[in-house]
Parts: sequence; C-alpha cells; structure tokens
Amino acid sequence: MVALLQPAPPGGARLLGLGSYLPARSVGNDEFAARLDTDDGWIRTRVGVSTRRYAGSESVADMAVDAAGKALAAAGVVATGVDLVLLASCTLPSAVPGRAGEVATRLGAHAAGALDVNGACAGFCYGLAIAADAVRSGSARQVLVVGSERLTDWVDHGDRATAPIFGDGAGAAVVGPATHASTEIGPPAWGHDGSNPSIIEITRADPHLRMAGPAVYRWAIGLAPVARRACALAGIEPADLVAFVPHQANLRIVDALAAALQVPHVAVARDIVECGNTSAASVPIALSRLVERGQVRRGDPVLLLAFGAGLTYAGQVVRTP
Ligand code: UT7
Repeated sequence: MVALLQPAPPGGARLLGLGSYLPARSVGNDEFAARLDTDDGWIRTRVGVSTRRYAGSESVADMAVDAAGKALAAAGVVATGVDLVLLASCTLPSAVPGRAGEVATRLGAHAAGALDVNGACAGFCYGLAIAADAVRSGSARQVLVVGSERLTDWVDHGDRATAPIFGDGAGAAVVGPATHASTEIGPPAWGHDGSNPSIIEITRADPHLRMAGPAVYRWAIGLAPVARRACALAGIEPADLVAFVPHQANLRIVDALAAALQVPHVAVARDIVECGNTSAASVPIALSRLVERGQVRRGDPVLLLAFGAGLTYAGQVVRTP
C-alpha cells in the first residue's frame, strides 16, 4: 500500500534542539610554531585562532552521531520520529558513499530519508533551509541537520597558510513544526559566485585543501548585504537580533561582518578563537555553544550566515530552541 503524505503542519518550521561535539585534543599555536615558519602572534592577529580541536580515531560519522544524539535529547525527539537526516560535510573519507545513511542507521532513525549535502562551509545553512522546507511542505515532520568535519584529513600540515586555520568537530539541529509564526526559521538568503571556483579546492591531483586566502577574504567581508537580506526575509531589523552566528572562517571576517551590520549590542559568535574553522560544522557548533553558555534564551532571534568553497553562501534568521 502506498503511504499517504502527511498533511502540511499549520505553522512553519522551527529549531527544536541543538547539540555539538568537539574532539578532546586541543592544539595550540605553539605546535605550529614548533614545526612551521609561523608564530602565535601571526596566527592570533591574522586569523584569530588560539586553539583548535583535532579528532583522533573518531570519524565524520562518529562525531555526527554524537552531536545529533545530543540535539535529539535536547529536542525531546526520539530517533524513530525523524523523517529525514541531512549530513553537511566536505571532508568525508570517500566520494561515495556519503555518510548520512550510516548516521541515520546508527541513531536508530530507521524510517528516515538520508542525504549528504556538500555545500562546503555553507552546507549546514543550506541543509537547514531544506529541512525547514521539508517540514513546511509536510514531506517530513522532524528533520535532523548535522554539520560534521574532519578538516585535519585534508589540510596540508606542512602549509603554514592553511594548516593553523582549521579544526574538527560536529554540530546538529533538530527541525520540526512551528505552531507560532514567531518561532519560525526564516527563509534563506542564498547565492553563489561560481566565476572562480578554484580559489578553494581539493582536487584528485592534489588531495589537500588549497585556498587563495586573500581573494576569499575580500569576497567574504562583502557578504553583509546577504546578512541584511536574510533579516529582511524574516521580517526583522538587524538591530532586533539578539545574536549573530557567522561561519567561523577568520576572526577578522567575523568582526568585519558584525561591524558592517552595525549591531554593537548583539552577541557575536567568536568560536574560531577556541575551535578554529570547522567548515560546515562551525555554525551549528557556535550556535549550540551560545545556548549552552546562556548567551541566548528560548525564542531569541539569531542570524546565521555561512559561506565558502564554490563559492556559495546561505543565511537565515532562526529562533533559539
Ligand atoms: O572557510 C572557508 C572560507 N575561508 C575563508 O573565508 C578564509 C579567508 N581568508 C583568510 O582568512 C585569510 O586570507 C588567511 C588567514 C588565509 C590569510 O591571511 P592574510 O592576512 O590574507 O595573509 P596573506 O595570505 O595575504 O599573507 C600575508 C603574509 C605572506 O607573506 P608575504 O608574501 O607578505 O611575505 C604570507 O606568506 O603572511 C605570510 N603568512 C604567514 N606568516 C606567518 C601566511 N601564513 C602565515 C603564517 N605565519 N601562518
């Protein structure tokens, strides 16, 4: 018998719970200074990283399962109630298979669809937008969105221009129906500039992350209009935000975007200082930690904005679960 589609929920979609996973090993700048032509001062002032976490034996899927389990527990949702699992990652050990199916199986989300989203550093925000639309349309009632990355598998540990920037970790969110418009996940402001995709790349010929840093930097600090568009789509003024969670690419980029938004009272996520750049995991880790630290309260409007290889970007306003 063909299963009937569920009726669309009356409201929209909202965040139900968040979770994150950070590997135990914390790597300080001195480890780079000891083996590369660099120093703590350069890394702190040019990138903003003091420490980053390096995974040991834990895989992208292991970290995703841990973060997702915490998000489900925070949401009070059982895995069997999840209809769709979206895994955002650009550092899987293989091109095929993806790992969303493994993550869903290990969580016990046996009835869920499972899809990998490779939007590089923007992947989580794209996944969140897809999740919200799936809930709004009624094709899924509860969706798990996870960003999980092992950048340390792909960086060139001998390249001082990239190695100190990146770290490993995972963050997750459960998305479900919203019965009130004020708890809605806002529509995404998304887009791309594919005119020069090779400025961040990992290729078959050179399986290390290569980045034309200054070019990416100039592009990223120009994304404030996208942040404003995400606010406008959600019907909110930037001044009414309680927090801003941009992709943790570089502390100078975080600060430049926050300054351009002219919201000095808003809590700005600066996880890059302690976690480095964890690509698709950076936004959900930072959002999760804002909640854990009590910097945002239930229902607070928070602007997410992620950007990276491709070049692609996506952002939306969410309400803290
Ligand atoms: O997450 C995906 C999206 N990624 C981003 O958004 C990253 C965007 N880009 C950046 O964050 C920055 O461009 C970097 C952090 C990657 C680099 O910072 P920068 O201030 O743009 O440095 P640069 O590449 O222009 O290099 C300046 C100088 C160079 O030396 P010369 O040519 O001036 O002699 C580099 O060789 O700094 C040198 N340098 C270093 N020196 C000490 C580069 N890396 C290091 C280092 N230690 N680790």
